[in-house]
Amino acid sequence: KTIYILNGPNLNLLGKRQPEIYGYDTLEDVERNCAAVAKDFGLDIRLLQTNWEGQLIDWIHEAREKAAGIVINPAAFTHTSVAVLDALNTFEGPVIEVHISQVHKREAFRHHSYVSLRADAVMAGFGIEGYALATRRMGSLLAG
Ligand code: DQA
Repeated sequence: KTIYILNGPNLNLLGKRQPEIYGYDTLEDVERNCAAVAKDFGLDIRLLQTNWEGQLIDWIHEAREKAAGIVINPAAFTHTSVAVLDALNTFEGPVIEVHISQVHKREAFRHHSYVSLRADAVMAGFGIEGYALATRRMGSLLAG
């Protein structure tokens, strides 16, 4: 089984982008950590990042056929995209939403998430460790 780990806009710059908020680790570090956790559960991961809303939606559609679960950091689309929510609502497996920063401690516009209406669990403020923790939880959900 494969877990899709999807990342939205500006996360290609993780490690360089506002490191005081998002830290110095990169998406490659995220991929390495998640792959190691998934391996313990006999699962594979596919980590993807895009700056385009439509691409994120296409990958969610692809996940319908190819993934058992989705871990997603929709980044700014979290707060704006009914289309990403609608796409996730077509997916039958577990969905875990991840935010590197503690969004509820930040600007009010980051407090609302469309994606949380679908997510089975939400991580916020765990830094990049949130992805590995979400992958661990996904392992338990997919095993049970
Ligand atoms: C983020 C939080 C969002 O509000 C922001 O737009 C991001 C990243 C996070 O991982 O903390 O781009 O999803």
